Amino acid sequence: MIIAVDGPTASGKGTVAKNLAEHYGLKRLDTGSLYRAVGLAVLDAGDEPSDVGAALAAAEALDLGAIDERRIRSSAAGLAASKVAVIPEVREVLRRAQKTFAADPKGAVLDGRDIGTVICPDAEVKLFVTASLDERTRRRLAELHARGEQITFEELQAQIAERDARDMTRKDSPLYQAADAHLLDTTALSIEAAAQAAYAIVDGVIGPRG
Ligand code: CDP
Repeated sequence: MIIAVDGPTASGKGTVAKNLAEHYGLKRLDTGSLYRAVGLAVLDAGDEPSDVGAALAAAEALDLGAIDERRIRSSAAGLAASKVAVIPEVREVLRRAQKTFAADPKGAVLDGRDIGTVICPDAEVKLFVTASLDERTRRRLAELHARGEQITFEELQAQIAERDARDMTRKDSPLYQAADAHLLDTTALSIEAAAQAAYAIVDGVIGPRG
């Protein structure tokens, strides 16, 4: 079984995907971490994320087993990720890695922006996770403050809106809800309530386990 989870920045899709993977005993790929790792590698090399040659070289050199899970969570890496994600050559390299992951016969949960539309268009279950811009900004602000990053609500909201716009308007694999994706709005939901809502959607499609 493949479960595809898409949605905008800080919508709660990562947490929903993690809980789904545990609940159904599937492995999970946070595809945003690949774009973040490429964005961070470009910044570390002193290059611009919009530099096609630099971003492609970073994508080709990416080692999935050696991603620094802490450093890729910075707001700078997130912003760089959304810039390298516009480049079709970068997407092509990362698309191959994602399709290989999804080809495992044991099934998987993948979360990102284009999983239900491009990476796994035949996924058994597709979720589109969203939340209001204010709520998404509050959540990401708490995460960044916990990391010790100094950023105001207004600065972060502008950054998130910029990333949303770039993700939704790019030519290659833009973010949108697949026609057969189930909408899950987590604005007013706790982590547990969002997980329960996601299980209900999946069970509704595949039938309850056992
Ligand atoms: O942490 P957040 O949910 O904000 O973003 P992320 O899932 O870590 O992804 C970072 C960036 O990578 C996004 O803003 C997208 O531009 C890009 N991305 C993408 O283009 N396609 C994916 N499947 C996943 C991420």
